[in-house]
Amino acid sequence: MYRVVQRCRACNYSYLQQVFDLGIQPLANDFCLADDDHAGYAPLKVLFCQKCTLAQLSVVVDPNLLYRHYNYVTSNSRTMREHFKTLLRDICANNEKGSVLEIGSNDGAFLAFMSKSGFGPVLGIDPAANLADLAAAAGVETMPNAFSRASAEDALRVLGRVDTIIARHVFCHVDDWRDFLVAVEAISHTGTLICIETPYVVDLLRKAEFDTLYHEHTSYLSINALAAALYGTGLFLDRVIHYPIHGGAILLMLRKGTVRHNAAWLEESITIGDWKAFTGAASRKIGKLKAFIDLLAEKGKTVAGYGASAKSTVWVNACEFTEKQIRFITDNTPQKIGKLSPGSNIPVVDEKELLELKPDYCIMFAWNYRDEIIEKNQAYLKQGGKFIVPSPELEVI
Ligand code: TYD
Repeated sequence: MYRVVQRCRACNYSYLQQVFDLGIQPLANDFCLADDDHAGYAPLKVLFCQKCTLAQLSVVVDPNLLYRHYNYVTSNSRTMREHFKTLLRDICANNEKGSVLEIGSNDGAFLAFMSKSGFGPVLGIDPAANLADLAAAAGVETMPNAFSRASAEDALRVLGRVDTIIARHVFCHVDDWRDFLVAVEAISHTGTLICIETPYVVDLLRKAEFDTLYHEHTSYLSINALAAALYGTGLFLDRVIHYPIHGGAILLMLRKGTVRHNAAWLEESITIGDWKAFTGAASRKIGKLKAFIDLLAEKGKTVAGYGASAKSTVWVNACEFTEKQIRFITDNTPQKIGKLSPGSNIPVVDEKELLELKPDYCIMFAWNYRDEIIEKNQAYLKQGGKFIVPSPELEVI
């Protein structure tokens, strides 16, 4: 079901130290119907490379299992639409409008937006065959493959050398970085802008965002680790932009050429000590939420979850919650509604049912959309409902 990681995928160093351990966990997006077979469980441990500062999971789960029925659909939320605009602004400030390849294009939402904004031709590549229909409906041609040297050749035949290449929250899923970077280089010309957006490990450490650790995210990137991975390729790091999206992310802008990295972008080194502090802070966060939910149970309050995110699976299993503590989790993704949360079998219900089901408290597992969720759930709050935001610090609204 998985392969055990032996070497750092950024710099090939073989001495990796374990810095975090959540035990054996279900696959975070394995939301299944009651009769479906679950994909199974795998260790959730983080290894740290002291040489280049990359953090990576100790195992790589078979992608065929992880992505067999991919339930993650890019959110059509206001927060995400605003982020798309910011991203477009930053791309336009660094490149001419031209052809675009999006790696991990999901339902095609970002490419459709780029196309409307004057970029083109656009092409997506994504292995989640169940999302291809959504992309087609959005008018986005999509190749149903994982990105690799072989599929890059196919993209090259369709687009020629691409002007802008985008990979949003996909590089952190990739096992073979060398293959990915060589493939990107092969379809780039000297003017190509390569944009890799990925969760930023410094935010993860600073805010103890342990719930963003799950099997799909095989790596937690530092800028230094990416720079190490580029060594020996024909790509260099040109610019880095920091965004608040998903708890903190960076856009790594790469270009083709043998220019040295712009060292100004490299960060101060991350240490084992930072990971020790993270472990302590994460276990305090878990303990705090468990204690608070126990207290509510003693008072006879009903509790639900809001947002069946992958993060919700990590929280629920780390806290060992079952239907006893959390009656249901609401979500607005059609692919998740009616299914059961991995590991706990807590049912996922349509968020439209929240006002009728009236739980006293909802744990906001999609805390990265905090302000938007509060704004759109005023009726629930007026009804007397309360949100528990578990991260970055426990907060009751
Ligand atoms: P997200 O935070 O995007 O990612 P991950 O799964 O990687 O943790 O997931 C947010 C989930 O919350 C997603 O399933 C959509 C859901 N959601 C709602 O149900 N209602 C909302 O208003 C918003 C913003 C999200």
